[in-house]
Amino acid sequence: SKAQAWSALFSEPMSELVKRYTASVFFDQRLWRADIAASLAHAEMLAAQGIISQEDRAAIERGMATITREIEAGQFQWQLDLEDVHLNIEARLTQLAGDAGKRLHTGRSRNDQVATDVRLWLRGEIDLITGLLRELQLALVEVAERNVEVILPGFTHLQVAQPVSFAHHLLAYVEMFARDGQRMLDVRRRVNVLPLGSAALAGTTYPLDRERVATTLGMVDEQGQACVCQNSLDGVSDRDFAIEFSAAASLVMLHVSRLSEELVLWMNQSVGFIRIADRFTTGSSIMPQKKNPDVPELARGKTGRVVGHLMGLITLMKGQPLAYNKDNQEDKEPLFDTVDTLKDTLRIFAEMIGGQVNPATGAKEGGISVNAQAMRAAAMKGYATATDLADYLVKKGLPFRDAHETVAHAVKAAQAQGVDLSALPLATLQGFHAGIEADVFEVLSLEGSLRARQTLGGTAPVQVRRQIARHRERLAVH
Ligand code: ARG
Repeated sequence: SKAQAWSALFSEPMSELVKRYTASVFFDQRLWRADIAASLAHAEMLAAQGIISQEDRAAIERGMATITREIEAGQFQWQLDLEDVHLNIEARLTQLAGDAGKRLHTGRSRNDQVATDVRLWLRGEIDLITGLLRELQLALVEVAERNVEVILPGFTHLQVAQPVSFAHHLLAYVEMFARDGQRMLDVRRRVNVLPLGSAALAGTTYPLDRERVATTLGMVDEQGQACVCQNSLDGVSDRDFAIEFSAAASLVMLHVSRLSEELVLWMNQSVGFIRIADRFTTGSSIMPQKKNPDVPELARGKTGRVVGHLMGLITLMKGQPLAYNKDNQEDKEPLFDTVDTLKDTLRIFAEMIGGQVNPATGAKEGGISVNAQAMRAAAMKGYATATDLADYLVKKGLPFRDAHETVAHAVKAAQAQGVDLSALPLATLQGFHAGIEADVFEVLSLEGSLRARQTLGGTAPVQVRRQIARHRERLAVH
């Protein structure tokens, strides 16, 4: 059969290997909804401009409705011979609508068509991802709310540094995911621009109304103005939007990966800060006692593939002359896999951290469980309040550098006895500085240390509660 749209010129059929090599229909068929939406908007405009008749437009709409039902029912016959999603749908439309189907491609090329489809599809995915980022932030905020007073050893260099509120630690990730959400919205503005009307590369001879198509497809800015690619060569060949999205997605995964690393560490038996629900762990085929944190480990691993896709897309574009080149067909699998990986990861993390709503009670259950005693014991081990003692001496009039040195001597003495600074008798502490009084023990306590860090963004419970309220307000659906 002469399946191809350009067959007349060709003296021999494509080999099966070349067909398979050049076809994209087995992965780009997921663009079908966007493809049909863009075609309907195009046909509506062609008819409004008098380029095709209203009868043809109606026939196209009926045909597309049938195709939609066929695809949804899994009855559509996708054909490798028809190369891609665009030619498959157009060929079926022509079967159903005759000449009207053949008129759809007037003033259009697959080059501007595919660029439009990918943008429409990605816009929808970005909206889902933004919602999932919000869910994950809410899960973290909920756990934070219950753990404001729980004290964790804060690390630098993975060594005990200063005590922090566990809630404060979780809210650091909320900040990261909040930025990710903003980045997604920013990328969305450049995704939501219409290439259609660029045609193959140079524009077209028909009097198209590109702004009308853009408006129909919701490609408008905050003021409701149509967003249309302003240069036809750029319109068909630009994939910056895909790269930007991949970069934003890579940052999301990077944040998930950092969190995963901490979860895995916190679950280690010699740390024991948290547990995650059994359904997020797996056993070992040999060691009967094992519950391994496979989900965070895999998320950490999948970060590599998402970052890899970003590199793939950048490399895909770097040597391409204007305008469209078939290379661009390779933008889809990395983009699709990035979206799939991101959505699954965000969904699973929101549930693993925040738990799941029990329909019987309406309450969330099965999120991470926190072992406050283990965190506290770890915070007591590393002289986490040494800085507080130095600050105390500064308030007594010592220059900070001298205070730092004085406390180093005190820590050395405590270490020699194998006790915390707060376990040294007052008289011993006074041996390091005569100005030390009984109120020092409040300063040396973990709670005192937290309470003293009242700066905006600091770990004092009053500040942490303020941040929780701010996030609650920000994340509320208005
Ligand atoms: N399947 C192609 C792609 O994904 C569609 C555009 C093909 N255009 C062309 N002139 N071969 O990019």
